[in-house]
This record gives sequence, C-alpha cells and structure tokens, in this order.
Amino acid sequence: MSNEPKATERLKWWTEARFGMFIHWGLYAIPARGEWVMYCERIPKAEYACLAERFRPRRFNADEWVALAQEAGMRYLVLTTRHHDGFCLWDSQVSDFTAVKSAAQRDFIAEYVAACRKAGMRIGFYYSLLDWRWPAYWEGPEKDPEGWAEFREYVHAQVRELMTQYGKIDILWYDGAWPHSAEDWQSEGLNAMVRRLQPDIIINNRSRVPEDFETPEQHIRPADRPWESCMTIDDLWWGYHPGDPNLKSPRQLVRNLVKCVAGNGNFLLNVGPKADGTIPAPQARRLRAVGEWLRRNGESIYGAGPAPFGQAHLGQVTAKGNTVYVHVMFWPGREMCVAGIKNRVQRACMLATGEELPFEQQQDRLFVRGLPPRAPDPIDTVVALELEGEPEAIPASFWK
Ligand code: GLC
Repeated sequence: MSNEPKATERLKWWTEARFGMFIHWGLYAIPARGEWVMYCERIPKAEYACLAERFRPRRFNADEWVALAQEAGMRYLVLTTRHHDGFCLWDSQVSDFTAVKSAAQRDFIAEYVAACRKAGMRIGFYYSLLDWRWPAYWEGPEKDPEGWAEFREYVHAQVRELMTQYGKIDILWYDGAWPHSAEDWQSEGLNAMVRRLQPDIIINNRSRVPEDFETPEQHIRPADRPWESCMTIDDLWWGYHPGDPNLKSPRQLVRNLVKCVAGNGNFLLNVGPKADGTIPAPQARRLRAVGEWLRRNGESIYGAGPAPFGQAHLGQVTAKGNTVYVHVMFWPGREMCVAGIKNRVQRACMLATGEELPFEQQQDRLFVRGLPPRAPDPIDTVVALELEGEPEAIPASFWK
C-alpha cells in the first residue's frame, strides 16, 4: 500500500510506551465466573441472552478507567469491543446483541474512546473473530460454506464499523481465529481494509497473519520482532472472577514489566471490571502501586530496551542511550558487583532517591559501594549507570 507508513514508524509510540491496560468487560461480568462462562457451563444462547437485559452498569465511568490507567503509568488501553460470546459493547448495525439495543442502551465504546481521547491516551480495540452464537463458526467453511460466508461477512462488517465510527484508533487487537485459517477469515483482505481506513493503526498477529506484533499470552517470551506479552492480574481470568484469590503483587507486576522491557517487549496487563462497571478495588490498588514505582523509576522503562548484558544475580537490566538500569530485585547488601561492562562508567545513582553511589571498575567488574543494607525500594531498586558511549558487553570468557 503506497501511503502506508512503514511498520517501524507506526510502532514507534507503542514501543516507547511499553505498558498498557487490557480490559475484559462484558455480560460475563454478571455471573462473575470469567469470560468463558458461556462455553464452560454450556449456557444456551437464549439463556445467556437474558444477561443483556440485566446489564445496566450504573457506575460505569470511562474517565475513571482511563484515570486509573494513567495512575498506573500505562500509556494505552485495549478494551474488548466484543468477546467470544458475541455481545457488542458498541452500536453494531449487523447484530441485535449489543449494549445499545438492550438494557444498558449505551454505546460503551463511544464513551471509552471519548475518555481516552480527552486524556491523550492511545486507544486499542480487542475484537474476537469467533462468535460462539453462530452455528457456522462451529460447522466451519467446509461443512457449511454458505453459513460461513454469511458469518464472515458479519465479522468483516463489524470490523469496518469499528474502524469507521470512532475516529482514529491506534491498535486493533484480534483474537479467536481458531481453529480456522487466514484464508477462511480472509484476513489479508480484512486487514487491507483496516489499513485503508486507519493508515496509522497497528494490528496484532491473531488474525493468523503476522502483521505488526506478536502476542505471547500469560508468559514472557522475547521474539525477534515486536511483541507484547498479555497477562491476567490474577492466575487465570480475563473477565471478572472474584473466585480467583491469587492476585499478583505489585512486585510481581513490576518484575514482569521489567522483564518485558529487558527483552524488548511490551506488557499488556489485564483488569476485569465488575458488572456495575467499576474496576475491583484490589486490582486498582495493585495498579496504583505499580504507578507509584513508575513515577520514581519510569526512565528505566519508557523508551528503554534491552542491555547487552544481564545480571541474573541481581535482577534484570534495561538500557536507554548511554545509561543502563540495573533493576535490583534481589538485594545484595552494602555492595554489588555488575559484571561484563566494556564501557567506562561515569556515574552511578539510585533512581528512587537520586543518591549518587561510589563505585570502582576493575577490568570487567564494577563494584558499586555504599548501598544501604536493605533495599530502599522492596519492589525493585533501580541503580542507573551512566556510561561512556552506548553500552557494550565483554563476553564471559575471562576464565580461559
Ligand atoms: C484467549 C482467551 C480470551 C482472552 C485472550 C487474551 O484467547 O480466549 O478469553 O481474551 O486470550 O489474550
């Protein structure tokens, strides 16, 4: 496509942003047993549809979601416009199963987009290709070619709506292509249409076409192309499920974020709002704690990437320009050794306090001294090392 900006240009803001909020919200928040409840409990379509008549999220306030994302230090949001259950949070003309045509009578996507835009936050749309309510999805294109064609038309029409009715959208986050192929979905054509309508948009890999970025789920695995790891805040659930007691601690969340950046990736952290539209307080508390940490240590995350050497005995290392950031998650006591830096070190300081630290370089070993006996920041104390020139490593061949 002639005027399509190059992928690296398109991805620039996203790569620098590093941290986003994923939001799974829909009818499944009412039974509160996760976003797969319809499938897991084999709830008949008609029974599930009754939830739409009970879905009146009186406390939904998109500005509050966006404000929380900002407090958490996130730079973009991705919201489920429609999950696998088929319920649309926007005013879709090709479906009757929408928030506008049921009890809520609201276009939540319009409200979400307006709130993001007002706050200057980047806007992402999650969209599930599959829709459990369509028999043709289960039959597939071979067994039911006509039904499939109709279903696929519905999917394409919905993507077109999302790409035309809400102004500029920054991310299209597909899901649920399985078990069908890119040809079955006609993903190439679909994405060509998306790019015509939204020339700057970035698209994930889940329409079975690689597009702009990879999406490792529930794990962190660096790739040799742009990637974003998405993760639940509890053990397993994307949609609200208070039965999962295992919320990740702020320290675990920061650790995951740092691990992503150290591997040159992004971190998309999920929250599952309740049926009334509010983000559960325990989830919000953890996000705010991450945000506090980011306010002190953000320069080691935003616009940062991998360093040419790791320091597994201390934690992770990120880098930006001539500075490397040692994320000390396993506090070593009053002195720490960072090994393998080829450059001269000019300055060492703790981001949390701004305090400069004395250091000594002995060949490829750097000793940073004068550390407090206990970690000043139990979440992750970042020691910034300013180097002469861009960071370079000495490989660990000194035993030879
Ligand atoms: C999976 C799940 C889904 C969730 C998504 C997030 O595909 O089916 O519930 O939305 O992952 O990555």
